[in-house]
Amino acid sequence: MAIVAIQFIPVQRSNPPIPGDLVAPAPVKNTLRAACYDCHSNRTRWPWYGALAPASWLVVHEVSEGRRRLNFSDWISYTADPATASHKLEEIAEFVSSGKMAPWYYTILHPEARLSPAQRRMIASWARREAGRIAN
Ligand code: HEC
Repeated sequence: MAIVAIQFIPVQRSNPPIPGDLVAPAPVKNTLRAACYDCHSNRTRWPWYGALAPASWLVVHEVSEGRRRLNFSDWISYTADPATASHKLEEIAEFVSSGKMAPWYYTILHPEARLSPAQRRMIASWARREAGRIAN
């Protein structure tokens, strides 16, 4: 009964407009799109399990927190400020090489987000290279 009742509590599952998406080489961009964009962009593919409470609350929370910390759809606002852009890039390199991102619980249902060591190295070296380029 409680499970049915909570379905009526509204949650926000929206995809707002895209101010200015990340520009990156295709292999980097495609990997990030597959593994990160559900939580770190305004292009979330809202999952079926995200329509059911209480999972929907978790998903909405992850996405709003993910977007707040790092939003590839609003990359333009980072590049407007080189210090922010290089900081975000350093963090991407760090979180991807350490395996912290994408989160393990997400990769259970999203095998395309399970990055190989080679993919992790590709993302990290791109991010560090970009950070270095912006900083200089
Ligand atoms: C299931 C949702 C989800 C996915 C998928 C995901 N993230 Fe995250 N990410 C989060 C959340 C939530 C946070 C904030 C909490 C934390 O740091 O754990 C975060 C934090 C981060 C941060 C720290 C940003 C900051 O400034 O604090 C980086 C960098 C990051 N993610 C990169 C990535 C990358 C790169 C990918 C893809 C390889 C990815 N994430 C995939 C949810 C996600």
